[in-house]
Amino acid sequence: MAVALPLALAALLGCARDEPPPPIAAPPPAHAPTPLYTWEPEVLSAAQHLVRYSDGGDTADLAAAVTALKRSIRPGERQDFARLLLAWALRLQGDAAGSAEVLDGVDPLHRPAWDYFFARPVTDLGLLLRGLVAAGCAERDDLPGVDCTTAAAPPSLPADYPVWEQISWRSHSSDRLGGWSRTQRGRTATDLGRRIGLEPGVDVADIGAGEGWFTLPFAQLVAPTGQVWAEEVEPAYLDYISFAATHLGLDNVHPVLGAPLDAALPEASVDLVFVCEVFKWIYTNRTATDRAQVEATALPFLRSLRRGLRPGGRLVIIEHDRPTTSPKDISPAYLRRDAEELGFRFVEELPDYRPLQVTLVLERE
Ligand SMILES: C[S@@+](CC[C@H](N)C(=O)[O-])C[C@H]1O[C@@H](n2cnc3c(N)ncnc32)[C@H](O)[C@@H]1O
Repeated sequence: MAVALPLALAALLGCARDEPPPPIAAPPPAHAPTPLYTWEPEVLSAAQHLVRYSDGGDTADLAAAVTALKRSIRPGERQDFARLLLAWALRLQGDAAGSAEVLDGVDPLHRPAWDYFFARPVTDLGLLLRGLVAAGCAERDDLPGVDCTTAAAPPSLPADYPVWEQISWRSHSSDRLGGWSRTQRGRTATDLGRRIGLEPGVDVADIGAGEGWFTLPFAQLVAPTGQVWAEEVEPAYLDYISFAATHLGLDNVHPVLGAPLDAALPEASVDLVFVCEVFKWIYTNRTATDRAQVEATALPFLRSLRRGLRPGGRLVIIEHDRPTTSPKDISPAYLRRDAEELGFRFVEELPDYRPLQVTLVLERE
């Protein structure tokens, strides 16, 4: 994940070490925006030229973008985002060979998503870059070469943009997650949502929502009346889930800042609680056999999830399917044991959502 872990989470990670885990620190008291990206003014300035080019087709803007990008790329440094923008700009200038040469230096994992962008109208990419420049201007007031007085975020993005692409542009200013799109994670999030019963009107909580891979497709599935609570302990993720929701025109996504052992959901507020790859941050196979540890970590967390569920509501947990001897993971067998202790009924285990993962479906009795 791109965002630095706060101390409270670093403390939780101590569960995977040999010594007993340190006490869990209190969460930050308030939700303060955290910068998500180290903005490079020159790249943002180039992006702004490309936005202008996509608006008006003035080749002087294209040339200015190429100059700024060439200047900003330092030999030997990855700078994939700047390289991808440069490859795109050169292609627009008709320099296919120059574009291919620049792309040679880019991580091949990024290529599939980038090919996708190349196939789109220039105005679409202009919209994404407009959002990027606006986000940079909102976070920094010292961006030489960038005109922040005219930098406004677009009211919406093209409806058929894959959600994960929109998010990765916002959070990493690149298609870092192009590799993920190859595994079609974004698409299967929607499929999985349908499979676990998400349809218009269902209220859902996505616990440890991270970058919103599930939150946003789920919000689309349950709209217009269903609500999605996106819960996190890391405020920066909430910022950018809000950003992405706004740009997708989703008004049913509600960020919730939780505490490490309390998801802080309003009581009996949702029909389904979804938790993907979060439990292993709470406890691991190594601590799952220690009753005192389970009572201090997993049970309070599970209780907070149960409290947020309406009677008969479902708890869906995804974790890696590793043996109980794998110390850094939490086995679904322990999850099931502890959830059943708190009054959840095991319903089913779904076939792989992704290879090596298990999806447990439980019901609040
Ligand atoms: C591996 S990521 C999974 C993100 C998302 N669920 C997904 O599958 O794309 C784990 C996330 O859990 C969050 N997290 C860790 N401990 C948490 C806790 N006690 N409560 C809520 N979220 C937590 C982290 O901030 C991180 O975003």
